[in-house]
Amino acid sequence: MRVVNRGRFITLEGMEGAGKTSRLADLQAFLQQRGKTVLATREPGGTALGEKLRALLLAPEHGPMTPLTELLLMFAARSEHVQQVILPALDAGQWVLCDRYVDASYAYQGAGRGLGNAPVAALEALLPSQAHPDLTLLLDLPVESGLARAKRRGAADRFEQETSGFHQRVREAYLSRARQRPQRYCLIDAALSPFEVSAAIERAVGRLL
Ligand code: TMP
Repeated sequence: MRVVNRGRFITLEGMEGAGKTSRLADLQAFLQQRGKTVLATREPGGTALGEKLRALLLAPEHGPMTPLTELLLMFAARSEHVQQVILPALDAGQWVLCDRYVDASYAYQGAGRGLGNAPVAALEALLPSQAHPDLTLLLDLPVESGLARAKRRGAADRFEQETSGFHQRVREAYLSRARQRPQRYCLIDAALSPFEVSAAIERAVGRLL
């Protein structure tokens, strides 16, 4: 049941190196200045167990994990995150900003790994319906420039090490999901300056205030 003063659930998605994490910090400050209590979190992760699963999922030494194992671990972390963190925060009236969520599983495991949408949709159906984002900000960037930016941050994780073909499939899946869901998604050009990207995000989020 939707509580009257329930908070808002905003997810950030995008390519590697698109700057999600820094823009999420800017958005958190923007909302706090407007009197909102904000919870910033991430996937995979966001709980003690989820952060352990994240470390397993991102570590390059687990390279040959099967795509289904990868998807199930993403959803194991997500189930914990939704029940222990996201829903309690929304019910308490907080605004939840989440760095990646279910759309990432469609893009990375469904398209990138080639599992298709069906197994992702089957797992998504197990999540409570209240755990659906109000707004998804897609920070889009050409694959090569995103990977080059990510590379400058340090050693590549298991996903960053993937081929540009993999990342191209991820990007196309995100763009196609955004086109099919214009009411929930806001597409943002992450090649703009950080200031311009944050301004575009604030305009989109302003509609929820
Ligand atoms: P990032 O949040 O720092 O970008 O790193 C998380 C990585 O995990 C990123 O490469 C995308 C990947 N990922 C998936 O493959 N599926 C998912 O469902 C989620 C949440 C993340």
